[in-house]
Parts: sequence; structure tokens; C-alpha cells
Amino acid sequence: MIGAGTWGTALSLTLANRGHAVTLWAYETEVVESILARRENELFMPGVRLPAGIVPTNRLAEALNAADLVLTVMPSHVCRPIYEQMLPHLSPDQIFVSATKGLESEKPMRMSEVIRSVVGSRFAPRLGILSGPSFAREVASGDPTAIVVASEDHETACIIQGEFSSPTLRLYTSTDVVGVELGGSVKNVIAIAAGVIQGLGLGHNPTAALITRGLAEITRLACACGGRRETLAGLAGMGDLVLTCTGELSRNRSVGIELGRGRKLPDILGSMRMVAEGIHTTGATVALASEHGIEMPITGQMNRILQGVISPREAIRELMERTLKEE
Ligand SMILES: NC(=O)c1ccc[n+]([C@@H]2O[C@H](COP(=O)([O-])OP(=O)(O)OC[C@H]3O[C@@H](n4cnc5c(N)ncnc54)[C@H](O)[C@@H]3O)[C@@H](O)[C@H]2O)c1
Repeated sequence: MIGAGTWGTALSLTLANRGHAVTLWAYETEVVESILARRENELFMPGVRLPAGIVPTNRLAEALNAADLVLTVMPSHVCRPIYEQMLPHLSPDQIFVSATKGLESEKPMRMSEVIRSVVGSRFAPRLGILSGPSFAREVASGDPTAIVVASEDHETACIIQGEFSSPTLRLYTSTDVVGVELGGSVKNVIAIAAGVIQGLGLGHNPTAALITRGLAEITRLACACGGRRETLAGLAGMGDLVLTCTGELSRNRSVGIELGRGRKLPDILGSMRMVAEGIHTTGATVALASEHGIEMPITGQMNRILQGVISPREAIRELMERTLKEE
């Protein structure tokens, strides 16, 4: 397991409980020290006991050399540099799983594209993408959770499904990598907007409209990029969107609430240790949509709010005053 944040820790616990020997690579030395000394990741998941089957390390070689399955759960903006460091320790026999949700900003690229561009210099990796409605805390508590593993290679998806599924974690397979990745990434942008609505003190009508019209624009983008419409109606699309736009545990939504209350983005981010992927992903999504000639009005307005060029109230007024059209 590469990445010992909230999600990496929860997945390690699930896999260890299922009988897997997990070596967990952490970026921070204090995470390794905390797990070794107290069997707890006090930085990212305090209060959750981690079994002895999880071995923490700060050395990538130790985590990777004997691994059959390499699961990566780093934030999207460090996916490329971490894969570059991992590269000498990887082998074509390994199966890779990415559980990161987000887009690389520069180009913009999905995580599977980033991973293939790095690992592809040595070999073509067998790769699956894990996504769907899954708050790490609830997975760690053993709440029943259903997610998706997508791979262009159905056999790879089936292997991952078999290795990860447990009585509390149910995996469905998909071959629509584009749809699953874009669903899991762009829902975080809409989640910030859902928080803005709450922060402004508005009611349920705008939230329902936001989720529905948000899904419509995510689906337009995914289809333009080669994804399938039905994927976005599933766990990695609508499922994750509903979770993140309504759930109290969503960080992206929490950022939106603060924006809605009038706080400025740098101030909000200054008080957060954890990542809110939607912030990086918003600009990347606007760029991807423009590359494909796709209209994404909510994402566009969210981007302007994050850049500080428009207030949340103005953004909503402009959305409501757009040219009237057929649904
Ligand atoms: N938390 C969830 O419930 C959840 C659920 C599904 C998917 N995800 C996705 O999983 C990914 C990781 O999220 P998280 O919630 O575990 O993150 P987190 O905010 O809990 O932890 C941040 C992680 O980033 C690492 N990190 C920070 N700076 C780094 C650097 N410079 N180099 C390398 N690593 C660095 C930290 O070590 C830590 O592992 C994100 O893409 C997120 O969208 C999270």
C-alpha cells in the first residue's frame, strides 16, 4: 500500500482483516512511528486499531519488492513523482490498483494516464482503478460499502475484485476506466458547490438541482472522453456524487461550506492537513471540458469562485439566468 492517509489506512485495515499481508508505505516518519509504537495512525485515523498484519515503512523498496498487488492511494498531485520513485522497484508481474481520485492539473490527465505514462517507460502495467461511494472512516468501521474496480482488461478487474471483496466491502467490475475515473474525480468539484449552498444557508431545492445538473455535466464530459453514460448512473458516478454532496464526512463539501460562509480559499486551506481533491481538479476539469468542447456551467462557476473572481451568490445568480433550455 503506497500512501498512509485516511483512505490508504482504511483500505490497509480492510485488506489485513481479509488475511492479506500489507506493507504500508507512509510519507511521514511519524505515521510509521505511531503505527509501530501504538498500532494506530494517529495523524490520519486516530482511534482505529491496526492489526499486526499491517507493517508500516518509509522505504518504498521494502513496500514494493515482494508485493503481488501494488495499491496506490496518494493525493493526485503527487501521483507522478511517487510513481517515478517507485519505478525501479516495480515488476510486470505485479498488479496495480489506483484508489486516488483526481486529475493531474498540468495537461490534464486521469490517474491511469499518469501511471501508464510513468510505468510505460519500462513495461505496460496491469492496472485497475478503484472508485465509488466510500468514506474511509465508514470502511474502517466495517459499514457495508459497494464500490467499483475498473480495468480495460476484464481479467485484471476480476482478480482485484476477488482479492479485495469481503463481507463488508463489495466490488463490482467495469471495463469503463474513463467513466469511473472522471465520475470519481469531478464529483469532488460538485461537492464543493454543494457545500457552498449549505454555507449560504440555502435549502434542499438547490442541492437536488445541483446534484442532478452536476451529474448531467459530468456525464457529458465522460462521454466526450470515451466513457459510457451508464457508468455515470452507477456507483462511481451518481453513487459517489450523492455521497459527497450530502455526507458530513466530505472534505470537499466542508471547504464549500466555508466558502459559502465567506471565508477565502487560502485561509481555509491553511487550516487543513488533509487533501480536498476537488480544488486541484476544478481547473483541470475546466481545461479538459474546453479541450473537448463540452459545456460545464457549474464547474466553470466553481472555478471562478475558487479563483476569487466571483462571489458564491453571484455565481448562483448567473447560473440561474443562463439561456433557458430543454432538459
Ligand atoms: N478519505 C476518503 O474517504 C477517500 C475515499 C476514497 C478515495 N479517496 C482518495 O484517496 C486519495 C488520498 O486521500 P486520503 O483521504 O487518504 O488523503 P489524506 O488527506 O487523508 O492524507 C494525505 C495523504 O497525502 C500524503 N502526502 C501529503 N503530501 C505528500 C507528498 N508531498 N508526497 C507524498 N505524499 C504526500 C500523506 O502522506 C497522506 O498519505 C485522494 O485522491 C482521495 O480523493 C479518499
